Parts: sequence; C-alpha cells; structure tokens
Amino acid sequence: MTKVFSPGRVNIIGEHTDYSYGYVMPMAINIGNYLDYKSSDIIKIRSEAFNEEIEINLKDIRKQNKWIDYILGVYYVLYQSNLRPKGIEGRIYGNLPISSGLSSSASIELAVLTALNYTYKLNLDKLQLALLGKKAENEFVGVPSGILDQFAVAFGKEGYVIFLDTETLSYEYLPFPKDVSIIVYNTGVKRELAKTGYAERKRIVEESLAILNKTSSKYINEEDLKRLNSVYRKRMGYIIRENSRVLKAKDALKDNNMELLGKLLVESHKDIAENYEVSSRELDFIVNEAMKNKAIGARLTGAGFGGSAIILAYSDRAEDIAKSIHKEYTREFNYKSFYNIVESYNGANIIEY
Ligand code: GLA
Repeated sequence: MTKVFSPGRVNIIGEHTDYSYGYVMPMAINIGNYLDYKSSDIIKIRSEAFNEEIEINLKDIRKQNKWIDYILGVYYVLYQSNLRPKGIEGRIYGNLPISSGLSSSASIELAVLTALNYTYKLNLDKLQLALLGKKAENEFVGVPSGILDQFAVAFGKEGYVIFLDTETLSYEYLPFPKDVSIIVYNTGVKRELAKTGYAERKRIVEESLAILNKTSSKYINEEDLKRLNSVYRKRMGYIIRENSRVLKAKDALKDNNMELLGKLLVESHKDIAENYEVSSRELDFIVNEAMKNKAIGARLTGAGFGGSAIILAYSDRAEDIAKSIHKEYTREFNYKSFYNIVESYNGANIIEY
C-alpha cells in the first residue's frame, strides 16, 4: 500500500479575490485526507466519511453526483490532457470536516492527482497538479471556483503561509510566527458551494472586469468603480480594498507586526460582510466573540455562507479563547459546532511508499 496525505487549507486573507486574478494568502493545514491505495485496473475507493465503497470501470468516467466525482473528475481532466493512468484501489479517510470551508474537495482532488502522478509516472509538477485539480472542480464537478484551494493544497509548506498573485501565479513563502496558533471554528452550518451565491458573485466580477476592460482586479482603482452600477461597485470596491489588505498583511508578516495583521483580518471580515455579503450571523458572532476575548484577529475563511472562521491567537491563550467562544456560541446557536487548533503544513505528498 502507498499512502498520500493531502491537507486542507485556511485562507489568512484575500477572500473572493482569486477569480478576479487578485492576491490571496492561504496556508495548508495539518488536518486533511489520507489515501491508502494500490494500483489496479479499475477505480475502487472506499470513503470512510461517507461510509461507502464505489467501483467504477475506467471506460465509464461519468458524473455520479456523489463524493466519487472529485476522483472521477481527476481522471476526466487527465484523459483530456492525453494522459491515461490506470486505476487505483484504496481508502480515503482523515480528519478534515466536509463542506466547512476548508477545501475538502481540493484536498481529495490533490490526493488522487498526487497518487496517480507518482504511481503512473505522469511527470506533472505541482503547478500542473493544482491547475488540473481546479479544472476537475470547474469542468467535471461543476463548481466555478478559482485557484486558491488547489494551489494551497499543492504548495503548502510547514511553517509558512503562501502569498500568491493569482494572475501571474507567482508566489512567495512567508514564515508564520511559531507562537501564533490558528483556531478554525466551524459554525456547524454546512453548505455546498454549488448551492450558494458563489457563482453569482463570480459572474459580477467577470462582468465588471469586462466592462472596465481589465485582466485583473489589481489594475482597478476607486475612480474606475464609478463606471459600474451600484451593486457591482459595492462588490468590486470590496475586492480592490481586499487586494490592498493582502499586500499590507504581507508586510505585517515580514515585520512580525501581529497587531497590524490582526487589524487587517478584522477589517477584511467587516468589509466582506457589509459589501460582499457572503458572511452570516454565526460567522459575525464568532469574530465578535474572538475579539472580545482579545484574539489577535479573526475573520471568515473560504467562501463564507456558513462554513468556518479563523481566529489567530498567541498559542498559550488559544485553547482558552476557543473554549470561551464555544461556550457563547453554543448558548446562542443550536448547530453542532466545533473547533480545531491547527498549524501550517506541507502540501499533498506521498508519505509511505
Ligand atoms: C472557495 C473557492 C476559492 C475561493 C474562495 C473564496 O474556497 O474554491 O477558489 O474563491 O472560495 O476566497
């Protein structure tokens, strides 16, 4: 048996900017998916999370509207690239919550891509793997996401966050302070991206770029926004401010200025809630509680609409802060919420040969 570990991710800042070709700052985390597998002539995978085993003939790669689509989607895009890996038999399991804003789908796509790349010697580099994962998500699963998740899951590095320009795909690893922990607080409100306002936000962004004749939100300024109608202006206003916050966050990290980083996170949350309108009462509540408890900073992470919030806290206080938020949250809401205190981690990799 060969074993892959493929992480989940949090996004520190730079939310909903990737499909406008702006800046993002994700981090792969030490919770994720394992894939234990051996080569085979068919695809036969058991998912522990769904308690189901599915067997598919390689000639029969068609959408099933089930979890297996993330695996079949990988085969679909590889076939399109004229690569013909054979099958795998194995088991997917792990500790990454599903539908909670931590990229469980990208984690599975990259787990399978990493396995096939290794076993069938496809000679693909990390960037190609990330782009193929995105393509599987967009064209097979049908979610119009950007490159954020797959890039983070492919390129993660223990001890670092990734600063990524999603237009040029140039990136930089920035050391993340060792004494700062990340609490991932899961609202317990599940959502599937396909069923939220994600596609509508993306459409507005694409139309705005076309109206303004720009290839990236990086080249849009306040003045340009006057040419857009009020809803479009509101959405794009958030995006250009978020891009500039990512650049400031990068400097704050380089200067080890946690106070500034925290401030930027809270500003980002407020702005996305008010002007991009993808937050929720639960996420706002968590961010408020975190700041009442003197966390460094907090904001929603991932697409929003439920899912999870991240809270940055000095490690010696993280558990206390998390417990205190949990107490208030469960008093206020009836969802099955929970939290994980996570650390940065490496991208998808073979861990046992
Ligand atoms: C989801 C998408 C990403 C990105 C985020 C929001 O995670 O998959 O591409 O757009 O939402 O930042």
